[in-house]
Amino acid sequence: MGVSGCGKSTVGKLLAQELEIPFIDGDDYHPEANIKKMASGQALNDADRKGWLETLNDLAKQQLSKEGCVIACSALKQKYRDTLSQSIAHQVEWIYLSGTIAQIFERLKSRSDHFMPSTLLQSQFDTLEVPNKALHIDIGLSPEIIIKTIKNKLMIPSDFGLFGLGVMGKSLCRNLANNGFKISMFNRHVDGVEEQVAVNFKAQFSELSTAAAFDDISAFVNSLQQPRKIMLMVNAGKTIDFVIEDLLPHLSKNDILIDGGNSNYLKTKERFDYLKDKGIHFIGTGVSGGEEGALKGPSIMPSGAAEAYEDVKPFLETIAAKDQNGLPCCTYVGTEGSGHFIKMVHNGIEYVEMQLLAEVCSVLKHAGKNLDEIADILETWKETANSYLLEITVDILRKKEGDHYLVNQILDKAGNKGTGNWTTIASTQLGVPSTLIATALFARYTSFYKDERVANNEHFRITTDTTIDITINEMLEGYQFARIMNHYQGFKLISEASKSFNWDLNLSEIARIWTNGCIIRSTLMEDLVTVFKNTTNIIMDENFAAAIKAYKPSVKKVVSQCILNDVSVPCLGESIQFFNGITTANSSANMIQAQRDYFGAHTYKRIDDYGVKSHHTNWK
Ligand code: 6PG
Repeated sequence: MGVSGCGKSTVGKLLAQELEIPFIDGDDYHPEANIKKMASGQALNDADRKGWLETLNDLAKQQLSKEGCVIACSALKQKYRDTLSQSIAHQVEWIYLSGTIAQIFERLKSRSDHFMPSTLLQSQFDTLEVPNKALHIDIGLSPEIIIKTIKNKLMIPSDFGLFGLGVMGKSLCRNLANNGFKISMFNRHVDGVEEQVAVNFKAQFSELSTAAAFDDISAFVNSLQQPRKIMLMVNAGKTIDFVIEDLLPHLSKNDILIDGGNSNYLKTKERFDYLKDKGIHFIGTGVSGGEEGALKGPSIMPSGAAEAYEDVKPFLETIAAKDQNGLPCCTYVGTEGSGHFIKMVHNGIEYVEMQLLAEVCSVLKHAGKNLDEIADILETWKETANSYLLEITVDILRKKEGDHYLVNQILDKAGNKGTGNWTTIASTQLGVPSTLIATALFARYTSFYKDERVANNEHFRITTDTTIDITINEMLEGYQFARIMNHYQGFKLISEASKSFNWDLNLSEIARIWTNGCIIRSTLMEDLVTVFKNTTNIIMDENFAAAIKAYKPSVKKVVSQCILNDVSVPCLGESIQFFNGITTANSSANMIQAQRDYFGAHTYKRIDDYGVKSHHTNWK
C-alpha cells in the first residue's frame, strides 16, 4: 500500500513472482466512474472507494482459499484497510511503501500511462494515515532489495522441509500438509528431466496451497524456521551423502536432517557421527507402508540423538499411522542407526511373509485349487491370520486382465532392492540364525535363474499328476507355524543387535509401531506387543508355545507332502527344519567339532568338563 507513485504495482508484481502466487493490481478494479473522476482532477471520496475496496476484499478471500495473492492498493486510510481485509485480517500482511513527496513527485512526473495527475499527489498525502501494523519499506531501496527485505521479514517460515519429491516424498508432503503443517518442498532441477517438479506438484493438490515450493537449495533452507527440520526422501546410498554435502553450507548449528530412505544402518551411524562433529543432528528413520502408507499414515522408525527427536516428534508422530489405541506408530527407537536397523529387519520379515504366501498359493495350486478358490480360502484366513500382505495377496489372486488372471501373466523372477540382502549380512555378522530371511532372499535369487530352471525342468523333472494330499486347515496351520518362526527369528535378530550395539531396544514398542501403517502389520504383530512385555523369546510365551505345538504336525504334513511331490517350499520347509534345530538338545555339531579338530587342530570343548578347557586329539 501507499500513495500513488510509490511503486506498488512494480513491487507487487515482483513479490508475486517471487512467491509464485497471483498479483492483483487494485487500480484495475476501479469502476469507470472513479477513473473518470480522478482523470478530471477530482479526488475520490470514501463513498467512491467503498465498493472498490469491497471488490478487492472479495478477490482476496477467493485467493486465500487457494494459494493467496499479492494486492497493490493505495488503502490510504485505516478504514480502507479494514474494509479490504474484512474477515481475513489475520491472514493479511500489510506492506507500506514509504517515500517523501519529493521522491514520489519526481517519479510521477516521469510516468505517462497513469490516470493519476501529479497535482493530486498532495491530496494523497493529506489523506494518508500511516499504518502502524505494517512493514515499512523505504522506496529508495532497489526493487530487488525491497523484495528480499519483504521476504525475510514477512515470509512465514515453514515448520518442516521435504527434500526429494519422489513417490514417497510427495505422499509425505501431502500427509504433512493435510495435518496442518506449513512445509517447504524441494526437488532438484535437471534440464529436460526434472524441471519445476515442486511447483507443479504444489499446483496439483489444494492441501499444498500454503506449502512453499523450491528447486533452489538456498531458498529452500532459508524458508525454514530454525532449528530446521529437513526430511530427505532420496535414494539410499551415495545420493544421501551428496545431498548432505549440498545442504551443509546452508545449515546452521542444531539443524536436523532426517533420512527417510531405506539406508543401511551402518552408513546411518557414519552420517550420524560425521554430522555430529558439524553440529548438525542426523536422524535415520525407517518409513514403512509404501506410497499409500506415506500418504495416510506410515509406520515410522526414527533413531539418533534423543534431544533431536523431541524437535521432530510432533511432525513424525502426527503423520504416522495410529495403533488400535490411537497411539502413533512412531516411536524413538534408539540411538545411532537403530531405526534403519529395525527397518531393515522389518523388510527381512516382509520377505519371509511374502515368500510364505507365495508358497501357500503354490501348494494349494498343487492341491488342485484354482486361483479363485485359493483367494476364497485365504479370505477365510483373515479371521485368524489377517495381515496386510494376506489382504493384498487375495486382491492379487482375484485381479484379472481380460479373461486371464493377471498374476499368471507375470514373469516369475523376483527382484529386490537390497534390504533383505543387508538383513542376511547383518545376521551373519551378528551370528544370529535368521535362516528364514536368508532362505526367502535366496529363493528370490533362485527364481532369477529362470532360463536355467526351465532347462533343468526339461532335464530332471518328471511331471507327476499326483496332487498334494493335505487339508486346508493343515495348510493354514503350517502357514501360521512358519510365520511364528519368522517373527521369532526377526525379533531375535533385533534383540541380539540391541545387545551388541548397546541400543537398549524395546521389542514391545517396536512390535507396537508395526501393528499399523507398515507392510508387515498383522494380528500376529498385535499379539507380540503384549508378549514382548514379558519375554524377548516368542516361543517361550505360553500361548505361542501352545500354538507351535498344535501347528507342528500340520507343517510337517504339508512339507513332507511337498517333498514327496517335488513342490518347492523353501520357507515352509526351513521353518520346521529351524524349529527342530533350535529345539534339539544334543545336536550333531559335536561331529563338526571333531572334524575341525581332525584336519585343522581347531580344538573342541568336552561335555565331561563342562566345556571349560579346550582339547585337541591326534585323530590318526
Ligand atoms: C516398506 C517396503 C519398502 C519397499 C521395499 C521393497 O516397508 O514400505 O518394504 O521399503 O517397498 O524396499 O523391498 P524389495 O524391493 O527389496 O522387495
